[in-house]
Amino acid sequence: MAESPTSHRPSLTHSERPDMSPTGFSEYPLDLVHRLIEPGPVIMVCTFDGERANLMTNGFNMPIAHGALIGLILGPWDHSYDALRATGECVIAIPSIDLAEQVTDVGNISGRDVDKWAKFGFTPTPAAVVRAPLVQECFANIECTVADDRLVDDYNLWILRGERAWFDAGKRGAGEFHHRGNGTFSGNADTLDLRNRMTKWQYLTRDQ
Ligand SMILES: Cc1cc2nc3c(=O)[nH]c(=O)nc-3n(C[C@H](O)[C@H](O)[C@H](O)COP(=O)(O)O)c2cc1C
Repeated sequence: MAESPTSHRPSLTHSERPDMSPTGFSEYPLDLVHRLIEPGPVIMVCTFDGERANLMTNGFNMPIAHGALIGLILGPWDHSYDALRATGECVIAIPSIDLAEQVTDVGNISGRDVDKWAKFGFTPTPAAVVRAPLVQECFANIECTVADDRLVDDYNLWILRGERAWFDAGKRGAGEFHHRGNGTFSGNADTLDLRNRMTKWQYLTRDQ
């Protein structure tokens, strides 16, 4: 199979990572980014097509490895697909359950037709290393580049690499929420602290 230009795209080099924090966020360690994704949150994917930034809602996502390698299903039925193809960049924004209604609305209309930022009250804020913006209202934002697009044609599966990640504990509220696949959603039930049973994986239980 012929390799497309973004197959195995290398990570951004250090010189491409300016030392600048987006307003209102603290930097989140890249080696812990899987903790933001492993709970299976509904996320928003932000893209920038060279003219306009856009948002879409995504429920099909997963961590690929400990750290910041993330699998994302995003198909050509979405306007966002063309921007992701063209730029090889996006931001994954993780909303708290307080934003569930607006986030669902973002997934039911296309950026082809409307400015979803203005319509649903989300604020784009500049990212550090990608052109797609962060979502100011979300508690976590992960700036991503496409690491591997070889499964996109067959499965719409993008392998993304987090380049920088940002976290605002004050916006986490009741936490992330999860799509049950049919327009119903669940929040986080009481958290079970089973760290004392993680004997084989003790190194994963360290605090940030
Ligand atoms: C809860 C929810 C989950 C969704 N999950 C996905 C997904 O995983 N992948 C996808 O391609 N589209 C998904 N969608 C659909 C897109 O968000 C939707 O097609 C959106 O209008 C695309 O926006 P755009 O055309 O501006 O890119 C989901 C929609 C909702 C409401």
